[in-house]
Amino acid sequence: MIDDIARLAAEGTERVGVASTLDELRSVESELLGKRGALAALRQQLGSLPPDERRTIGQALNDARLTVQAAVDARRDALATAGRAEQLEAERLDLTEHVHGGRRFGHKHLITQAIERLEDVFVGLGFQVAEGPEVEDDWHNFGALNFAEGHPARDMYDTLYVDYGEPGSTLLRTHTSPVQIRVMEHLPPPIYMVMPGRCYRQDTADATHLPAFHQIEGLVVDRGITLAHLAGTIDLFTKAYFGGDFTSRLRPAYFPFTEPSAEFDIIRPDGSYLELGGCGMVHPNVLANCGLDPEEWQGFAFGFGIERLAITRHGVDDMRDLITNDLRFLEQF
Ligand code: DAH
Repeated sequence: MIDDIARLAAEGTERVGVASTLDELRSVESELLGKRGALAALRQQLGSLPPDERRTIGQALNDARLTVQAAVDARRDALATAGRAEQLEAERLDLTEHVHGGRRFGHKHLITQAIERLEDVFVGLGFQVAEGPEVEDDWHNFGALNFAEGHPARDMYDTLYVDYGEPGSTLLRTHTSPVQIRVMEHLPPPIYMVMPGRCYRQDTADATHLPAFHQIEGLVVDRGITLAHLAGTIDLFTKAYFGGDFTSRLRPAYFPFTEPSAEFDIIRPDGSYLELGGCGMVHPNVLANCGLDPEEWQGFAFGFGIERLAITRHGVDDMRDLITNDLRFLEQF
């Protein structure tokens, strides 16, 4: 009988060791250790044995039970660990980007590159960089910039209004010029600042317009600033950004916030030109609106569209290509 028990323990341990699922393990366990299991059946025979044999056999049965139970516990742990690993593996999300034919990296959008390059050029000329909010109030976008209520120049800006506060009081800024106001409100002169950012107009996208676009604004406020400083700065910028053989020119224009005002063109070495933006001497009313005494401080300002600049520089025919997210286009820059 001792032999039967030893065999049972050995075979049982082996069966437990190869149980491949928790369910299978459970049924092996009950076959061996359960109330109607093999060990229990042997134990029932104990009563019919002589006392000293009963003790040895009883001891052997207990040992066998412990051995098999230990094997079951170990196997259960192993299966549970394996099960968890399997579950983790099955639920694993593969976030690796697979690209055929080598690695491919993302890069900055053409407009971001243009903004960073413009900032670099102006920082090189001694300017600082500021930003303002894209949702503006009427005062900063128009009023402080000397657009009177109902001024016809307001109609040039196809303004998108935001449903917030009094009707018509809150809008998506139509240009970066309101940042001039915010800078003058917050910083004492001298001011040498450029202000890039996104602007919005109620425009249908076409080859030369986007309803959401970017401008960069420039503002200088100091003592004794003249139109010559403005023209010189525009020309320095032109040469630094486009190359030494480019020049610039100013043409008279009208903006409510500058007096005199001008449009400026970039003249290419072949004599053709690009109408880039507007500029002028900061209007005394604008300085006064920001709490600056126009007798003491003078300034000039300029502003131009970045999409315009970027597509001309790179020979892109259609501005909409900038925002369609076509990799064949984006990868070229
Ligand atoms: N804000 C003007 C526009 O969007 C551009 C402009 C013109 C900016 C003259 C200026 C400026 O700073 O002096 O049309």
